[in-house]
Formats: sequence, structure tokens, C-alpha cells
Amino acid sequence: MTDPCTTHYKVIKKISKSVFVIERGGKKMIKKIITRADHPWANLESFDDVFEMNQDLYDRTIYFYNLMSKLGFGPKVESHICMADMKTHLDTYLIIFMEYFPTTLTEEIVEEREDEIVFMIKSLHQKGLIHGDLHAVNYMLDQEGRFKIIDFETMFQLSEIKENPLPMEWLEYGFEETDLDAFMQDEETENFTAI
Ligand SMILES: Nc1ncnc2c1ncn2[C@@H]1O[C@H](COP(=O)(O)OP(=O)(O)O)[C@@H](O)[C@H]1O
Ligand SMILES: [Mg+2]
Repeated sequence: MTDPCTTHYKVIKKISKSVFVIERGGKKMIKKIITRADHPWANLESFDDVFEMNQDLYDRTIYFYNLMSKLGFGPKVESHICMADMKTHLDTYLIIFMEYFPTTLTEEIVEEREDEIVFMIKSLHQKGLIHGDLHAVNYMLDQEGRFKIIDFETMFQLSEIKENPLPMEWLEYGFEETDLDAFMQDEETENFTAI
């Protein structure tokens, strides 16, 4: 088997510094590179206190990408932790290959089908899962026109948060809501613009 960390795929489009549309086995896929340094929680000083049950960023990330895939909320995924290439990375890095979704939601689609989106987010919350970074560009449509969510680095589950309200420490990362119920309510109702 070829090593997914060193194999070069045909890059069709660079979407951002870390996200690429690639062609692999005749199929379009997304390749996302995650480094600890660029992780949205890289500077959360209290990370170890808040998430004492599962502190490793890569393990957490892989866990939530796999879970969202399994639950049908996210893209099908494949992940690999790679050794650093010192020219470009100072640490190991995580590569996630995932199903390519052809359509990013527009404000119009969101407005039109908002009930479906709210239902999806409520279902997620009922399972004790909180996305943490919901806004328009993290919603997609799959080939069949079903709503999907992407970008799970900031996900967490209710069972790992010891207390409600949301730990004050999260303010370090700019969370303005300290009340977990209000935060979840926000994800459900202000899902297009929130956070
Ligand atoms: N599975 C996917 N299918 C199609 N486009 C995607 C997919 N994943 C990410 N993208 C595109 O790449 C952008 C950035 O990806 P995302 O995972 O949200 O990274 P970031 O953490 O930088 O926000 C998305 O807004 C979307 O346009
Ligand atoms: Mg995003």
C-alpha cells in the first residue's frame, strides 16, 4: 500500500492553506492537513483542565470525524497521523481524506431549508454532541442534496464537560457564551451566523 503521508495526489484546487480538492483513484476528494500549531484550540491554556478525559488534539479530531461520519452527519473519512517533514511542519501532522461535497450552502438555501438544518443540529445535540463552530461555510450538501456538516476540530461532547455552565476558561478562546444551554440554543437557532 502506498504511504498516504508521502504520496502525491493530483491537486485540483487549493481551497485554503490546509484544505485541498484532490483527485485520487479517479475520484475527487478533500485533503485537510491539521497541525497542532494551527489548531483552533492551540492557545487554549486551560485545554488540559477542560478536556481531561481526552487531551490529545489529534485523537480528539480523529474521534469526532469518525463519529460524525458514522452518524451520517459528516463526510466519509480516512485519517492518518504523519511524521513531520521539517521543511514544512515542526510537529507531526494529521491528514484527513474525506468525501468531497459539491455544494457549499448559500444564505438563500439556508433560509429556505432552515427547518431541516435546525432538526439536524437538534439531533446532534440530543446525542450530546456540540459542533462548536457552526456557520454557513461549515454546512454542505452531498450529491443527493442532503445536508452535511464539516470541520469538527472544535467539537466536544456534553459528557466531558463537568459542569454547566460552559467552563469560564473557554472565554480565553473568545467564546462569549458561558452558559452551555444558551450556547446550544445558539447552535440550533442562530446556526447560520452564530459563533
Ligand atoms: N468534504 C468537503 N467537501 C467539499 N468542500 C469541503 C469539504 N471540507 C472542506 N471543504 C471546503 O474547505 C473549506 C475549509 O474547510 P474546513 O474543514 O471548514 O476548514 P477550516 O478549519 O479551515 O475552516 C470549507 O469551507 C469548504 O469550502
Ligand atoms: Mg470551516
